[in-house]
Amino acid sequence: MTYPIELINNEYSALLLCCAGDIKNNTHIIGNNDVQYFSNLDNVTLVDLNPDTMNILKNSLYKHKQNWVFIVDDMYKVCNNFLITNKKFDIISCDPWTNQMEDLLFNNLNNILPITNKYLITGFSKILSDKYNLNLNMHSIETFINKKYNINISIINLIKRSGYLGGIYWIVMQKNN
Ligand SMILES: C[S@@+](CC[C@H](N)C(=O)[O-])C[C@H]1O[C@@H](n2cnc3c(N)ncnc32)[C@H](O)[C@@H]1O
Repeated sequence: MTYPIELINNEYSALLLCCAGDIKNNTHIIGNNDVQYFSNLDNVTLVDLNPDTMNILKNSLYKHKQNWVFIVDDMYKVCNNFLITNKKFDIISCDPWTNQMEDLLFNNLNNILPITNKYLITGFSKILSDKYNLNLNMHSIETFINKKYNINISIINLIKRSGYLGGIYWIVMQKNN
């Protein structure tokens, strides 16, 4: 299994960012990386910029999920609105393109972590560990992130998803209160 499904509790509220994919670039089923693992939850909010693939998620693949909220918009704008309205989610999963992982992890975690109650699952790559001279292990990445943002999160899992570009990973952060 290349997704940390053991974290997902059916009672949780979940926010799925960058969850829809692109019909032109992706050969996999839309939402296959992430959405499929949340299909037993009632309280799920999905956010993506792509109206075409969001439409497929909303009106075809998950049309039976009456309580799910589908938002076609920029994830940072949406997260900022949730911050302002004090809306939080037990678990957030964010699956950006590989070339967006750096900006998310090293410039924008402050936009997402405050609206996470428990876990944030997002992407990491071998390219990033090389660029920032990090060992490709949980401790090294955790220390870097905590120092950079002056926060206290734990990295509780680092899962290899594929060998693309030397290695693409899911990184799992746990909030420490
Ligand atoms: C790797 S694909 C996601 C694949 C999807 N999780 C799946 O399983 O099919 C990355 C997604 O990020 C979305 N995206 C990129 N920048 C975004 C942004 N600023 N806000 C919201 N979505 C964004 C793209 O539209 C694309 O659907």
